[in-house]
Order: sequence, then structure tokens, then C-alpha cells
Amino acid sequence: MTPPEIIVVGSTNTDLVVRVPTLPRPAETILGGEFFQAAGGKGANQAVAAARASHSPVCFVTSIGDDGFGKASLATLNRENLVTDQMLISHAKPSGVALIVVDDLGQNQIAVAPGANHLLTPDHIDALPKSLWKTAKVLLVSLEIPIETALRALSIGKKNGLLTILNPAPAQTVVPPRELLEHVDLVTPNEREASSLADFSVDSVQDAIQAAHVIAAQKRRVVITLGALGAVVYDETGHSAHLPPFQVEPVDTVAAGDALNGALAVALAEGQPLVEAVRWSMRAAAISVTRSGAQPSLPTRSEIDAFGTL
Ligand code: RIB
Repeated sequence: MTPPEIIVVGSTNTDLVVRVPTLPRPAETILGGEFFQAAGGKGANQAVAAARASHSPVCFVTSIGDDGFGKASLATLNRENLVTDQMLISHAKPSGVALIVVDDLGQNQIAVAPGANHLLTPDHIDALPKSLWKTAKVLLVSLEIPIETALRALSIGKKNGLLTILNPAPAQTVVPPRELLEHVDLVTPNEREASSLADFSVDSVQDAIQAAHVIAAQKRRVVITLGALGAVVYDETGHSAHLPPFQVEPVDTVAAGDALNGALAVALAEGQPLVEAVRWSMRAAAISVTRSGAQPSLPTRSEIDAFGTL
């Protein structure tokens, strides 16, 4: 097998989803419509998004429980172009679960029980084969795992000369330590995560451009995803650009950011310049919001290539 060019480190969840007319407010019960279960978790979604967009295999490092959800997740992941032999199977905690409601506008609310995801430790990252780091080009890390594990992966990735991408999702109640960004080449927050990193509220494209400058003062490259407003890119030349969104009818926005991050890792591993890479990966996100479920919504390479250009 060709050695993986991309390593993804992050969570695996099973998503339990109910469609509702409107998102519930505190203490409110909403009678919903259909229920469905889907493979999810930010890390797993990003790994699958990258594997479907890539011509070569992607290595996924995660932790699942030794239970029914975990076994189903592993079976699903093994159907993709993924290297899964570095996954941890834990007996001490159940697999991660996300309770999700999606409304008629495709917006969502998500509550995650991380379970085994929190057992992915820095020791596990230290124990990964050295050969993996030698052949990979890009490392993509998200934050539904312990911060210290994310930090260890990014620092080892950086030391080995990989392009390191941090998707600082989900938005943290505590601002991620500055140290985390020291090992990161590219940060990809959404508007909420950008607000937390820049320390002011990001509500518009102008705010996002300003936030990108603030975040880039810590690290040079930044992509802020803005949902229906598109994305703001701050590249290595210090230039910022607003990329408008594709006009699609959203059905379910769960995993749109993951679709973008996974495809972006592929485009960058293939050597595309940042702005072109973001334009291309925005196609993946646009396709994903027209479909239900996290991993079921993620497009293949040919679907991304065939999608309309900006
Ligand atoms: O980014 C979407 C993901 O967030 C869902 O699949 C859910 O599992 C949560 O991790």
C-alpha cells in the first residue's frame, strides 16, 4: 500500500440525529420528525472527507470504545481509503456519542459525550511508528480530544516537517493555550472559534478579516469559515481574501466544516496554493450541506471536481 501523505488525529462519534422544525430553546421539548444514526465525530469526518477526496490513503488516529458503536465505527472507517491500524480500542470508556438536532433550515445543535475520545493520550501519539511521520506531508488535528494530545501531535508533526493544520473545533469554553498555535502552520476556525482565538465577536466578513490578521499575528496562515458568508483566507504573503459561498439549498450543515478541512488537507498535500485549495475544498463543504448526516454527506473526488466553480 502507498504510505499515507495525510495523518488525521481526532475524535470518532456515533451521531444520533433528530430532524426538528425549529431548534429547541432551554427547557423546551420539540416534537421532531425522522430519527437516524450516522457515523460522525470531527476527526473521523475529516479523515473520511480527506480519504474520499484523495488519490492516496489517509492515516486516522483516534480512540473508540470496545462496544457496539465502536465496532460499527471501525467497520465504516475500514470501508474507506483509510489506514486504521493506529486506532486505539479502549475497554475503560464507551465510544463517543453526539446527540444532534437539525432544523428545517439545516442548522444544528450538538451535544457530545466524548467517552473514549478522551483516552487518546500523548503517549499514544509518541508510540506512532516513526516511518509514518517520515512519509506524510500534512497533519490535520481537531479538538474533540484532549488538548495535550493535540499539542503532542502538532509538535511531532512540525518537528518532522509536515504542514500542520489545526481545526480548533469545537469552540472551547477555555481559550486554547498559545503553545498550541506555536506548532501550527494553518488555523481553520469557524466564526465562533475565530471569536474565541481573536478575543472579539466575529459577525461579518469585515470582522473575519480583522480576526484573521489578529490570529495570523500568532501564526501566518488562517482560513475562517463563515457558513453562508463563505470564507476568509489569510495567506503566507500576508494577503487576505474573501471567498464568496456557493449558492446551495442547505439540508443539513453538520460536518460542512469537516468536509472543508479534509478536502483542504488533500489540496495542500497536492501542492495547491492556499487560496485555490480553499476554493476547491469549499466545493466539498457545499456538496455536504445538500445531504443529510455527517459521513454520509461527504463527497468523493469526482463529485468535488465536477461541482461548479466560484
Ligand atoms: O462536526 C460535526 C461533528 O461534530 C458531528 O459528526 C458530531 O459527532 C460532532 O463531533
